[in-house]
Amino acid sequence: MGRFDAPELVQRWQQLGEYSRIHDDITHMAMSHLNAKRVMDLCCSTGLLGRRLLDCLKLERVTWVDSSKPAIDAGLAANVIDCKYAYVMRVDRQSLAAFMGIIGRESLTAIVARRCMPELFGYDLQLGRDFAAAIAGAGVTQIFLEGRVPSPNAVNPLSSIDDEVEIFTAHYKDAYRYRNVAVLVKL
Ligand SMILES: C[S@@+](CC[C@H](N)C(=O)[O-])C[C@H]1O[C@@H](n2cnc3c(N)ncnc32)[C@H](O)[C@@H]1O
Repeated sequence: MGRFDAPELVQRWQQLGEYSRIHDDITHMAMSHLNAKRVMDLCCSTGLLGRRLLDCLKLERVTWVDSSKPAIDAGLAANVIDCKYAYVMRVDRQSLAAFMGIIGRESLTAIVARRCMPELFGYDLQLGRDFAAAIAGAGVTQIFLEGRVPSPNAVNPLSSIDDEVEIFTAHYKDAYRYRNVAVLVKL
């Protein structure tokens, strides 16, 4: 298995139609529980998770968001990411209103977010709670989270999937679990 942004992962999809095994667990849960047709791949990197869900689940639309322009550009160049629905955006307190604008404009009702909650909200847990309230209010009914593998040396407050889920509990029920993946459903 490669690093999430390894060029080989994009090449293997482009040349062989192979999906990366790093996304197997969260894809498995999406195949079992996703009931939306328009989904955001939040912190998508080169976009491979969203592409897999778009193709395998016959979604109407995936919207890709990441702060890394090189990663989004690599996904665009390989046709992993559809340029109509790609956003280079650093999600933070300043951009939250603009982010919510995307959710509303694209009529998104589900978000997949693999291994990015520590980066997004680990140093501002209140921002995470505000984010949860905002997306719940905007009609996002399902969130698919994949957390990091627990490590005894972790310093980030969101170092496990349980910590990530906790951020959302005022608005979302912890409905299903599989390995480090949680499926949250709006209360
Ligand atoms: C560990 S990678 C996971 C990538 C992808 N979800 C996957 O599993 O293949 C974390 C990603 O989050 C992005 N990221 C980190 N902080 C971000 C922020 N504040 N807003 C948007 N993207 C961010 C990084 O650029 C990186 O692509």
